[in-house]
Amino acid sequence: MQAQLNKILEEAKAQLKEVSSLAQADEIRVKVLGKKGKLTEILRGMGKLSPEERKTTGQIANKVRAEIEQLLESKFNELKKAAKEAQFKLEKIDVTEPGKDIILGVKHPLTITIEEISRVFMNMGFAITEGPEVETVFNNFDGLNAGPNHPARDMTDTFYITDDILLRTQTSTVQVRTLLKEKPPIKVIAPGRCFRCDTPDATHSPMFHQIEGLVVDEGITMADLKGTLDSFAKQLFGTSTKTKFRPHHFPFTEPSAEMDVSCFKCGGKGCKVCKGSGWIEILGCGMVHPNVLKVGNIDTEKYTGFAFGMGVERVAMLKYGVEDIRLFYENDMRFINQFK
Ligand code: DAH
Repeated sequence: MQAQLNKILEEAKAQLKEVSSLAQADEIRVKVLGKKGKLTEILRGMGKLSPEERKTTGQIANKVRAEIEQLLESKFNELKKAAKEAQFKLEKIDVTEPGKDIILGVKHPLTITIEEISRVFMNMGFAITEGPEVETVFNNFDGLNAGPNHPARDMTDTFYITDDILLRTQTSTVQVRTLLKEKPPIKVIAPGRCFRCDTPDATHSPMFHQIEGLVVDEGITMADLKGTLDSFAKQLFGTSTKTKFRPHHFPFTEPSAEMDVSCFKCGGKGCKVCKGSGWIEILGCGMVHPNVLKVGNIDTEKYTGFAFGMGVERVAMLKYGVEDIRLFYENDMRFINQFK
């Protein structure tokens, strides 16, 4: 029996030497010291021995058990330490490694253009206002002196939602809203999206942006219109920019005009950008038609006003030399990133 005990001890020692994982070590513990383990079985069989034999064998068995327990414990500790070290190695942070670049978003060229134009007008005392993209037919047409037979009301130009509701074709709708809501003095600009049934090509898009302007006060004249818009052009395109006002027609202004700016590319000599003319058409404008002021119950004997409207895409295309309007809506980062 004593020989058996020594054999168990030697075997356990040999096996533990080979062990490389906690699970393996535990397996040995169960095989030797577990309920059905080899050593446990021997201890159980000791009842059959004579009292003397039981005493000496018992002593040896206890010693063997203590030794195996000791061996197991140190093996467990050794393996746990090794596992921890391996984990530390795995989680080690290399503080000398260079950081990853954070990619910051950039503003869309149309946003940049709207902000730039808005800043110029804000510096001249204009407030910024907005109106909805889904509008009433009244705010888009009737209220702007475009009666039932006006060609712009044709189904081919306008996205109608119902007989009375449409997607606004111009930011001039905000003129009507402002006149109904506010009392003079009024001095606002209104940037926003507009919609027209146009087939997309290099210069047309069914969705585009405009910036509207409206000034109403006592004693406003065409000279205020010209002075304001000339100053705007010089601030946006450079101080040497010249402006020219050509007679035009809009239902909501009388008289009406279109403003051209001298070509900022060639300075007026004629180039590809201005198509050889030296001038670039930039906006529509005019003195607010009395019929429009009346919609807002404004005393047309006392007050006059001027209004203007420009296409944001057109300004952006000219400023940045973009040749296809569709580029603005594709959101190709190679395009967008150029406006950082
Ligand atoms: N709403 C016009 C358009 O879409 C632009 C315009 C012209 C606006 C003259 C105005 C204006 O306020 O006075 O073509």
